[in-house]
Amino acid sequence: MLLYNIVNERLKSITNPQIKNNKDFIFQKMPLLNGLQSSDELLEAQAHVWNHIFNFVNSMSLKCALQLNILDIIHKHNKPMTLSELINALPINKAKSEHIYRLMRILIHSKFFVKVNISDKDDEEGYWLTPSSRLLLRNGPSSMAPFALATLDPVLVDPWHHLGAWFQDDSPMAFVTAHGRTLWEKAFEEPRVNQFFNDAMTSDAQFVANLLIKDYKQVFDGLKSMVDVGGGTGGMAKFVVDACPGLKCVVLELEHVIDGLKGDEKLSFVVGDMFVSIPRADAVFLKWILHDWNDEDCVKILKKCKEAIPSKDNGGKVIMVEMILDDKKKLDHEKVETQLFFDMEMMTILAAKERTEKEWAKLFFDAGFTSYKITLLGLRALIEIFP
Ligand SMILES: C[S@@+](CC[C@H](N)C(=O)[O-])C[C@H]1O[C@@H](n2cnc3c(N)ncnc32)[C@H](O)[C@@H]1O
Repeated sequence: MLLYNIVNERLKSITNPQIKNNKDFIFQKMPLLNGLQSSDELLEAQAHVWNHIFNFVNSMSLKCALQLNILDIIHKHNKPMTLSELINALPINKAKSEHIYRLMRILIHSKFFVKVNISDKDDEEGYWLTPSSRLLLRNGPSSMAPFALATLDPVLVDPWHHLGAWFQDDSPMAFVTAHGRTLWEKAFEEPRVNQFFNDAMTSDAQFVANLLIKDYKQVFDGLKSMVDVGGGTGGMAKFVVDACPGLKCVVLELEHVIDGLKGDEKLSFVVGDMFVSIPRADAVFLKWILHDWNDEDCVKILKKCKEAIPSKDNGGKVIMVEMILDDKKKLDHEKVETQLFFDMEMMTILAAKERTEKEWAKLFFDAGFTSYKITLLGLRALIEIFP
């Protein structure tokens, strides 16, 4: 209130018609208002700036909840958990118990928990899960926890501190400005990075595989063989071959990713480079591959995919899961923002990008494909590309 009054008084003095001297007016108005017209506008702008300065608090509070296993502890409790029950169950220094309600308060605000009445005690409330926190349960069938922890690991967050420097240096991406090498090189050199990155990808692959098999299984109809190019540790491929009798799948990957993994009759792992050669199959599967590369590299990869598959008449196709940036204003503000977050992440970590439909279509046609079909999957899409 004090700040509001001070600002208001200064505003009144600045807009005072008795100030005749133009020089004085400019001197007083410019530094205080920065071109803003009213105190409401000024304070609104300040709130917006603060919100963006502290935007990371949402991410870091969520990371803390995952580090302390709060989501799984509440889930295991099997009913809403009171604050004291939660504190007792948490692996924390009990001297810090008094701060837990503050962490929970912001996580309620960001819709990861709700507070509900506990039925037999009217005045008592307990914390309970939301659809978003259920997706982050560690033992869930396609938990997003590994993806959250990887994305918020200092190795992937550090490059963001170097974004400004990257715009001025010669590095291909801010990841290199920060770490002196690419993500793939760092994953090759550091087993911890390799592990958390592969775990993150596997968790997302299982999430997508679950969805495809549940609602879009027909996309695999008629296929006898498929190559999952850059298919990570095979999370996606395993799920698909288990659900589709008669389909065999090869995962083509870099050596350090599939080192030690054993295949079986339906699923095999092949070390290789998608820029050099892709094993022949009825279909090539590409999930979260092309968004890692620039346009020129994408066309090279797509041409290799085209060489690996039969003609359209003989059932050949590329099946891709990628984001299509909404340039038609169909998505709400939060979803558009999330897509833009991904695009910035790709630029910062991998010198790559998310693309609009027009940008995707250009890549497909430049690589010699003749048509494509899009099925939207929330923020991403299932895209079938035909030779
Ligand atoms: C973003 S991850 C996607 C993993 C998986 N498709 C998924 O969505 O869960 C990209 C994958 O491409 C692999 N990759 C990178 N360069 C490659 C290359 N030249 N040939 C084959 N795979 C490559 C990486 O090892 C990594 O597993």
